[in-house]
Amino acid sequence: MCGIVGYVGPRPSQDILLAGLARLEYRGYDSAGIAVIDEQGDLGMRKKAGKLAMLRDSLAEHPLAAGTTGIGHTRWATHGGPTDVNAHPHLADDDKLAVIHNGIIENFNVLRDELISEGVTFRSETDTEVAAALLGREYRASGDLASAFRAVVNRLEGAFTLLAMHEDQPGVVVGARRNSPLVIGLGEGENFLGSDVAAFVEHTRKALAIGQDQMVTITPSSVEVTDFDGNPVEAQPFDVSWDAAAAEKGGWPSFMAKEVAEQPDAVANTIRGRVQGDQVVIPELDGLDELFIGIDRVIITACGTASYAALVGKYAIEQWARVPVDVELAHEFRYRDPVIGDKTLVISISQSGETMDTLMAVKYARERGARTLSVCNTQGATIPRESDAVVYTHAGPEVAVASTKAFSAQITALLLLGLHMGRVRGSLSDSAASDVAELQALPEKIAQVLAEEQEHVAQLAGWMADTRSVLFLGRHVGYPIALEGALKLKEISYIHAEGFAAGELKHGPIALIEPGQPVFVIVPSPRHSALVHSKVVSNIQEIRARGARVIVIAEEGDAAVLPFADEVIRIPLTGAMFEPVLAVVPLQIFAMALATAKGLDVDQPRNLAKSVTVE
Ligand code: F6R
Repeated sequence: MCGIVGYVGPRPSQDILLAGLARLEYRGYDSAGIAVIDEQGDLGMRKKAGKLAMLRDSLAEHPLAAGTTGIGHTRWATHGGPTDVNAHPHLADDDKLAVIHNGIIENFNVLRDELISEGVTFRSETDTEVAAALLGREYRASGDLASAFRAVVNRLEGAFTLLAMHEDQPGVVVGARRNSPLVIGLGEGENFLGSDVAAFVEHTRKALAIGQDQMVTITPSSVEVTDFDGNPVEAQPFDVSWDAAAAEKGGWPSFMAKEVAEQPDAVANTIRGRVQGDQVVIPELDGLDELFIGIDRVIITACGTASYAALVGKYAIEQWARVPVDVELAHEFRYRDPVIGDKTLVISISQSGETMDTLMAVKYARERGARTLSVCNTQGATIPRESDAVVYTHAGPEVAVASTKAFSAQITALLLLGLHMGRVRGSLSDSAASDVAELQALPEKIAQVLAEEQEHVAQLAGWMADTRSVLFLGRHVGYPIALEGALKLKEISYIHAEGFAAGELKHGPIALIEPGQPVFVIVPSPRHSALVHSKVVSNIQEIRARGARVIVIAEEGDAAVLPFADEVIRIPLTGAMFEPVLAVVPLQIFAMALATAKGLDVDQPRNLAKSVTVE
């Protein structure tokens, strides 16, 4: 929810913190702040409600004294509204100590009452200030930042990444994490902490992942990781596979526009190294053949857009690997009593790898004896670390809040997984080689949709800028795409939108159709199933007869839709399972163009943050 950055080294920290926050702003953007220990050993702090630009302007007008130790925070409010006072850092110990925090401290009320009874007064409504005050108390008792910090984290319940520094100990930043992300960046004579590697990738691509319930102390020349009892722990090193330029807008009007356009590369990167001849072999899954053969059930768990990728994955894995697959929203999964055993494989899907609902579902599945595999886009994130195996999507950093390239990469990873599992289980049909060829052709075909339909769809959106509601229909693997098309539109254009399985129409939703109602219909190829195709064409006729304005997404050459469509968007011919990756592209462009026509910020839609690290 919030973005965190910490720096110790020889350079002035303010610019490093602000640049890091700019790259983390996707995580939260309702307020921001930094604290710096200056050359005189005094702690200076500035924080502002609003986007990072407000903080930048304030610092440009009244700079803080320069210093080389600092922490910075970009916030997405949980406890207390987005105000200057509630923004982080929070100070304690006569303002000599600063703390920033991501997550929710569940027992903050008890701790707050305890501190109030000792005479502490609070300035903000946040749970974070409670942690800061507690740290102030512990520091006064021990005079050592690391041990005081350890005492504090051991008292906190809930989810947190915390960073702290004290002006008595310049050149030291301490951090800790529980169910919330924190990574270390290793520089030459300088070190960094960040919510993710974007915070420091401009300066170093060498990183260390910190495990659950661990804390770290960084100085310019040392990094010490321990568990919450103070026992030394070996942190896992990794190299960041993308560079700073990948997280820049690079001339595009928005990150979302850039990320939509990057989909051919994102999908190609997901596939790279995972096809041998005409077979899919995912090297990371080496040694898991017995697991794939032994399972009798798959549950895919995820939230939001990732859960729609999961639905496509269900169709693909069932078809190729011949094993039953259920899709469960992660936040529903562990609050009932699902049937899970050691023959259940629970696959989690998460772009960020830190969505709290999904993380908790993975933990729950493991506790119940299931094997776990994650599909993730973020190296060093929590969910892959908590899983038995991981298939990274390698889509590169996704900055815009609305997921686009991560979604097509997630579907691609699930298609790969379905073909890999099918091969191992011996359940692939004779046509599998042509499926692998279709998979490899996807990047080029996505590029074709972008080249041929971008302008047409954007024009369509321009005409529809005053529309108050849009419906989306699909069948088979087109159904999840209808759901995704509706979600994209809702989240960035704030227009009411619903996605339905086309067959469900007559069971209720058709009552919504009135003259002029725009309805997108994702039409499956007649080459794969004449029956399913004809059913969708019938659905189109039903809504057209009631005055709907029908916008059809259909494969090239499908003439059956022409008499009933107001607009036709074409996608290239592909295999049945691969259509979603092509059909979603015009829907992403539509949502983006409509939001732009309404003058909205497509990258940072209201009320949303990129990664949802609270339940
Ligand atoms: C919508 C969107 C969200 C995420 C969901 C899960 O555009 O991005 O619905 O898909 O919050 O996030 P991850 O994949 O990071 O677990």
